[in-house]
Amino acid sequence: MAVHGRADQDDMSEGGAIATSLESREYRDAMSHVAGAVHVVATSDGATRGGFTATAVASVSDRPPTLVVCANAASETTRAILDSGIFSVNALAFDDEMLAEIFAGRTELRGDRRFAEGRWETLETGAPILKDALVAFDCRLRQSPLVATHHLLVGEVVAVRYGLRRRALIYRERAFTGL
Ligand SMILES: Cc1cc2nc3c(=O)[nH]c(=O)nc-3n(C[C@H](O)[C@H](O)[C@H](O)COP(=O)(O)O)c2cc1C
Repeated sequence: MAVHGRADQDDMSEGGAIATSLESREYRDAMSHVAGAVHVVATSDGATRGGFTATAVASVSDRPPTLVVCANAASETTRAILDSGIFSVNALAFDDEMLAEIFAGRTELRGDRRFAEGRWETLETGAPILKDALVAFDCRLRQSPLVATHHLLVGEVVAVRYGLRRRALIYRERAFTGL
């Protein structure tokens, strides 16, 4: 696949088209220009909790209410969600950048210890729900097809919790910002 009009290329004499195959690094660079809302996706087996930071979250349908999270198959938390069949999606506020760092594995905290930060509760499924999320979705896993390196975690939303109306945490060009 060709890359067109890459911003860091000077030679635009061919109408901006650069004939080269799209490598994964180039794909990630291109995707870094897309602003994404930052979430924590979390699960529990009743004893131990797990969670990771995710921007690859999208609504699928409102009948029944369904969303999808693209989750790395190599992640411990992805395995835990496949096993438990439940997960939450917590949309982070700008103030909660530290939670995004913790759940992205950028601190030494692993597994359940990541939940020492933030105020957590449960709704219907037992998945951890962040009280201070802008909005949190409590989901039952319905499908989990593996596409390349990621599972598409298709969840039916069985409960929703609204938090305070605050600025949203956004990730763009590999940095956090607010909206
Ligand atoms: C801003 C941001 C967005 C991310 N989005 C995703 C995502 O959508 N899906 C994913 O699988 N990992 C995503 N990651 C990476 C995971 O948060 C990270 O690999 C995490 O540590 C994996 O969880 P684990 O420690 O349980 O393996 C993102 C990381 C950051 C910083």
